[in-house]
Amino acid sequence: MKAVILAGGSGTRLYPVTQAVNKHFLPIYNKPMIYYPLSLVMLLGIRDVLFIVNPTDLEDFQKLFGNGSKLGMNIEYQIQEKPNGLAEGLLLAKEFIGDDNICYMLGDNVFFGHDLVKIMVEAKREIEESGGAYVFGYYVKDPERFGIVEFDENGNVKSIEEKPKKPKSNFAVVGMYFYDNEAVEIAKNVKPSDRGELEITSVNEEYLKRGKLKVKLLGRGFAWFDAGTHDSFLEAGEFVATIEKKTGLMIGCIEEIAYRNGWIDREQLLKLAYPLRKTDYGKYLMELGG
Ligand code: DAU
Repeated sequence: MKAVILAGGSGTRLYPVTQAVNKHFLPIYNKPMIYYPLSLVMLLGIRDVLFIVNPTDLEDFQKLFGNGSKLGMNIEYQIQEKPNGLAEGLLLAKEFIGDDNICYMLGDNVFFGHDLVKIMVEAKREIEESGGAYVFGYYVKDPERFGIVEFDENGNVKSIEEKPKKPKSNFAVVGMYFYDNEAVEIAKNVKPSDRGELEITSVNEEYLKRGKLKVKLLGRGFAWFDAGTHDSFLEAGEFVATIEKKTGLMIGCIEEIAYRNGWIDREQLLKLAYPLRKTDYGKYLMELGG
């Protein structure tokens, strides 16, 4: 399985700052927003990652991650000329994906929860063994903001709609999707929505039509933030700060995960930590290296 992380878009909901800076570089507490989805992909053991980026941001992403070798990974970039929608990322990633299955992540989503990695591993296995699409639902109080999934009385998925004016449920589809290789072909047939975007929800709808969409609900033990608005951005930062200060352990620390995965050795960890040594982040890495 390969991972594609969507890190383009216009970030209008975070204006004025995103007029000058791509939102994925903004810090959720002590590290860039984009570290959070990347860290999840790494925790899944996926080393091949493609970032979908705006033309103006490519250089900055390269500054941050290079070709991934410093983390023992292969990181590539694909430019999206305009924010034409999430499903376009699948088309742009076609070559990178090749014949593989896909872990598709939104660059502004932050997750935390006890069994998170376990359920991601389960989703990955399900796709590898049976194909189809596997997505997650999360109860929200503002369903108009999201892709919304509706269930029938037996708990089967009945419908899925993007930002409905009259939501049929409160279950939002979160920004972490697992697809078999068919997703690329499906994305080719997606037509722009009323807001002019190629919606990822249309891809999920097609899987639903084919009887190949699995939705797993994330319960109350999970925290999920779509950090693309001022409020949720702040909430995500406060949440991460609280957990990290309480436990002394970091959320979304990519160097730590690369080290624990055995993708980099102690020497490399300390090399990455050295320029950051005046920060708590750097000190954390130094300590990890002993
Ligand atoms: O966060 C979950 C929600 O994300 C889902 O419930 C919705 O179904 C899904 O459409 C999406 O809605 P948003 O309106 O929140 O998507 P947003 O425009 O914020 O884009 C999500 C990420 O993808 C963000 O990190 C920017 C990036 N992006 C966005 C667009 C439109 C791209 O890389 N390219 C794009 O063309």
